[in-house]
Amino acid sequence: MRIGVFTSGGDAPGMNACIRAVVRTALPAGHQVIGIRRGFEGLLTEALFYSLILKDYQMDMRSVSNIIHRGGTILHTSRCPRFEAEEGQRAAAASLRRHKIDALVAIGGDGTFRGCMDLARYWDGPIIGCPGTIDNDLGGTDVTIGFSTAVRTAMEAVDKVRDTADATERLFLIEVMGRHSGQIALYTALATGADTVLLPEAPVTVDEAVKRLEEERRQGKTSWIVIVAEGAVAGGVHTVSRELAQRRTSFDIRVLVLGHLQRGGAPDVRDRILASRLGAGAVDALREGHSGKMIGEVNGRLTLTPFEHTGTERKPVPTELITLLTNLAR
Ligand code: F6P
Repeated sequence: MRIGVFTSGGDAPGMNACIRAVVRTALPAGHQVIGIRRGFEGLLTEALFYSLILKDYQMDMRSVSNIIHRGGTILHTSRCPRFEAEEGQRAAAASLRRHKIDALVAIGGDGTFRGCMDLARYWDGPIIGCPGTIDNDLGGTDVTIGFSTAVRTAMEAVDKVRDTADATERLFLIEVMGRHSGQIALYTALATGADTVLLPEAPVTVDEAVKRLEEERRQGKTSWIVIVAEGAVAGGVHTVSRELAQRRTSFDIRVLVLGHLQRGGAPDVRDRILASRLGAGAVDALREGHSGKMIGEVNGRLTLTPFEHTGTERKPVPTELITLLTNLAR
């Protein structure tokens, strides 16, 4: 088979480890690997990875040397508005036929898998997805590639902020990523001992949060950390800060948006191993004749889930962890 591989949507630490596993599983089994650069955009513009060794638009063993520890993605990534239209999907399918690509491995999040389902209307080759997104918002896998590293990055940043919050006796509102999902926010909050967390899945009103913080102050607390998921309220942490200011509390408030910092950096051990397993598993799944599915890891076992179920069965935030956070933050 000529297997195309691409990364799409937001990059996530571990994507490179996943590409490496795809290449190093496929080549020894006699397949060719075509690296498609910039996701769906690269299908439309025919931006393919070039091997200086093979002198061809294919990936070789050395194409993926020394990347297992690197964040980002050597294939680059993008969000591609043109592909959202039928014309773009037809053009991408034509491009796959022109380059005689037989099968695809797509590494990305829910938008990527929706794109794969669109593509499948005009192209009949098998497609297997690998969950690569820091958001951890997909069904069919316990965690997504990049989540563990992103939470670690956020945790380390919040730990630093805590020092200055403590020294200056301030309240810090810290926004973490997650457009539709509070997974990063909840895990970061729990790992940093935050006072409260605002999530899209379990709304806490600003009044409730203030009540809690005031209560902690009465108990002698002099600095506070509040983690806000990007998607918890429209406008994110800035809205929360404005609403707090309107209530004229006496907290000395500072705001921090961690932003894209959370997407970069070397993948941690968990992401490297998960990405390696899933990349290799994706090639095995293609060999076994599967298509239209995402490979994930559930309770330590590789599992295939149809694309249409990965977005709809969004991972719920574990409510017992919200309770634990509340019980421990006093
Ligand atoms: O989906 C991953 C993610 O990092 C989200 O958490 C975030 O909302 C979004 O991507 C940011 O996207 P962009 O890099 O296109 O601004």
